[in-house]
Amino acid sequence: MNIKTVGIVGCGLMGSGISEVLAKNGYNVIVREVNDDFLNKGIERIRASTQKAVDRGKLSAAERQQALERITPTTKLEELAPCDYVIEAAIENLNLKKDIFERLDNITRPDVILASNTSSLSIAEMASKTKKPEKVLGMHFFNPVPVMPLLEMVRSFMTSEETYQTSRALGESLGKQIIVAKDYPGFIVNALLVPFQLDAIRFYENGMASIEDIDKGVRLGLNHPMGPLELCDFVGIDTVLYIADEVYAETKDPRYAAPPLLRRMVAAGHHGRKSGKGFYKHSK
Ligand code: 3HC
Repeated sequence: MNIKTVGIVGCGLMGSGISEVLAKNGYNVIVREVNDDFLNKGIERIRASTQKAVDRGKLSAAERQQALERITPTTKLEELAPCDYVIEAAIENLNLKKDIFERLDNITRPDVILASNTSSLSIAEMASKTKKPEKVLGMHFFNPVPVMPLLEMVRSFMTSEETYQTSRALGESLGKQIIVAKDYPGFIVNALLVPFQLDAIRFYENGMASIEDIDKGVRLGLNHPMGPLELCDFVGIDTVLYIADEVYAETKDPRYAAPPLLRRMVAAGHHGRKSGKGFYKHSK
């Protein structure tokens, strides 16, 4: 399959990062957000990140300009009609994603593969809203997408070998290293990460150690780039709770039961970096 134009649904942290990486690698991108405000913020994020790449010597100014010109922003899902491949990176709400897949199925050509960047939700459920469940799979990128080398591919029990191979080739053309997971809640990486983050929150909640010492212990003792609570702030505390609740709802595995502090922080709007407040204070 000859993929030239990729549609991205959502231009948040993940959608903007995926759009950036595709455009830098020569693909035309049509990226859709629900309104102009979110769209402008997403495009501004891409401009800033590609400028950082130029400043760090990872990209020339001319390559940056070409990449930016390959990106077409829109607020209309229908404008993804000419796309050869689509990656959905909307918020983590299964009903919303199912609705997007149903609409994409009608908007795009029948041969077009529809992928989701979901961090934990069921690929089979999204696929079931289309007439081509064999052409649906998970393409889970990691934040920050331009920097993180991993792509976690998720095959549902209906994903065809051809869909998998085409998508794998696309991921490899972006310079990503690939791992393959079954369509099981949390897949590989979040299934491991989330219990670790929830344990760190419980340690702090129970007064076992300070936020700083928990993070320092993991940074210096395990050589992780960030401690688990720093990572909660980085990923979004609301996202951590969302994934925990989703995996718990499907598996009833107590390792994913959210500690009360996590739920209270989300209710209070302490969502981490994006809200300025989380386990740490952040300048927005
Ligand atoms: N474009 C291209 N390259 C960039 C860049 C950009 N916009 N920004 C930075 N870089 C490069 C830098 O040049 C540098 O490259 P070098 O090693 O060759 O010099 C490298 O990326 C690191 O950049 P910085 O020095 O600016 O950044 P730090 O060293 O402070 O690292 C970090 C920042 C990469 C965010 C690091 O702290 C980290 O790895 N944190 C953990 C991130 C993580 O775990 N992400 C996964 C979250 S889970 C997830 O996403 C799943 C979801 O489902 C929840």
